Amino acid sequence: MDAERVEWFYGTFSRLHDLVYGPLFHQSRRYAVKVLKAGEGETILDVGVGTGLNLPHFPKNCQVIGIDFCEPMLARAKNRLSRRRLTNVTLLRMDAMQMTFPDNTFDAVFAGMLITTVSDPDRVISEIIRVCKPGGKIVMFNHFQNGNKFISTFEKVFSPIGKRLGFCPDLELGGVLEGKPLMVTEKKSVKPLNLWKVVTCINEKDVNGRGNGNGNRNGRGNAAAGFE
Ligand SMILES: C[S@@+](CC[C@H](N)C(=O)[O-])C[C@H]1O[C@@H](n2cnc3c(N)ncnc32)[C@H](O)[C@@H]1O
Repeated sequence: MDAERVEWFYGTFSRLHDLVYGPLFHQSRRYAVKVLKAGEGETILDVGVGTGLNLPHFPKNCQVIGIDFCEPMLARAKNRLSRRRLTNVTLLRMDAMQMTFPDNTFDAVFAGMLITTVSDPDRVISEIIRVCKPGGKIVMFNHFQNGNKFISTFEKVFSPIGKRLGFCPDLELGGVLEGKPLMVTEKKSVKPLNLWKVVTCINEKDVNGRGNGNGNRNGRGNAAAGFE
């Protein structure tokens, strides 16, 4: 999937987004935001914010910046902000593959249903690591390739259709984290059907902000994750 196609897809089907990703994922989404443990006064990035389904779950005493490159999705998120009176949230149009934030801007980063939709997951993870402070928390709430052979075969078969529908159903978590300075502290399967995962990581790049996964590979993400 190239970036233009992804943007077109979410722009065209933005009004259907909340039907697909709304009530069915509500409980797991709330859990995923909770494990971020955003503290008072912290600055949080919600990357690929979409229509803003995660935004009401963040504590009101932290500052949330939501970015997305798709204008119709952001327009829906803006409506949600005014409906829910979420004054602690700022929305920006930005490409997750080339964020304009300086290094070490955010205390924590949340990526909900993003990493399987982007055209270059490796680049997005590297950018997330770059803009997150050393020691900051990074939470991904996503579907990844299943450890069960039967299910993963189905995911592979479904993959070409999935890609047409704006996501990659057989992306491997191990591949996403490989060589990245991320320590996985929790990996929990969540509803629906325990096919989705909430993956909590600590950003272990060095204090000078170096080692965002572009060339400085230490492999700890993989070692700590214990992949199925
Ligand atoms: C499946 S939606 C998830 C939205 C939201 N995070 C949620 O949990 O409901 C994926 C979102 O990622 C956005 N997206 C995909 N690639 C992106 C990129 N390179 N830069 C910014 N946003 C991107 C899409 O526009 C879409 O809004």
